[in-house]
Amino acid sequence: MGTQAPRSALVTGATSGIGLAVARSLAAAGDHVFICARDADAVKKTVEDLRDEGLTVEGLRCDVRYTDEVTALVVAARAAFGPIGVLVNNAGRSGGGVTADISDELWLDVVDTNLHSVFRTTRAVLTVGGMTELPAGRIINIASTAGKQGVVLGAPYSASKHGVVGFTKALGNELAPTGITVNAVCPGYVETPMAQRVRQGYASAYGRTEAEILDQFQRKIPLGRYSTPEEVAGLVGYLASDAAASITAQAMNVCGGLGNF
Ligand SMILES: NC(=O)c1ccc[n+]([C@@H]2O[C@H](COP(=O)([O-])OP(=O)(O)OC[C@H]3O[C@@H](n4cnc5c(N)ncnc54)[C@H](OP(=O)(O)O)[C@@H]3O)[C@@H](O)[C@H]2O)c1
Repeated sequence: MGTQAPRSALVTGATSGIGLAVARSLAAAGDHVFICARDADAVKKTVEDLRDEGLTVEGLRCDVRYTDEVTALVVAARAAFGPIGVLVNNAGRSGGGVTADISDELWLDVVDTNLHSVFRTTRAVLTVGGMTELPAGRIINIASTAGKQGVVLGAPYSASKHGVVGFTKALGNELAPTGITVNAVCPGYVETPMAQRVRQGYASAYGRTEAEILDQFQRKIPLGRYSTPEEVAGLVGYLASDAAASITAQAMNVCGGLGNF
């Protein structure tokens, strides 16, 4: 992980929220960053916006639920910027409801999007992505405090994020001798478009207004407010740095004290 040469970094789901903040901050620190999302226009616009900020960014439309698309993404990222030194598995979705009423389709899609995608992208980066050819690497998975505690009306989401934490711990131990670290970052409540959709869902489930749900959530957070995407990106940037070489197989919260485990 030389600090001299720019590294090749891949961030999934980077047209919005946390992924966008991560892509921007890694690129601002000097990495060459490849991004993806499902909406091709959003990928194009995000690449243009970040380039306008003077950053080195490329991107490709990719749905992380499909292995062939993930392989094409990783091949394209390597072709653009060289062997991938930093992978941030960020793409994800919310989803839940009364568990007895959850359809197969919803359950499978939440777990596929949030958990299976992390395996798919990681495997591709470790093979065609070239990470193992480098002296060191960084894999950072955006899980959630819901990956450590159960969230009411969020069984598929909680299950998927617990899976991400388990995958992280197992792979971190497996790859420790190689110089590749694997860690999970667990945000609590972060103000993003997903957070807005989550508040809408709870407002509808509980028959309350979104403002009431926001107030209820904020009162649960010792800090008294949502975290920002930039605060999550700050920990990702640290875990991606040379200084974090001995941190692996961990799941670390950015949550204003919401989870203290
Ligand atoms: N916000 C929070 O409070 C919070 C808390 C804990 C954890 N997290 C986690 O943080 C991550 C980012 O969340 P966010 O709040 O920033 O969400 P967001 O604002 O909804 O952004 C999600 C990003 O992922 C992309 N994406 C979604 N499904 C995808 C797929 N199948 N393939 C490729 N890209 C996909 C979206 O673009 P397209 O729709 O165009 O694909 C978008 O760029 C997620 O893993 C989430 O679970 C968020």
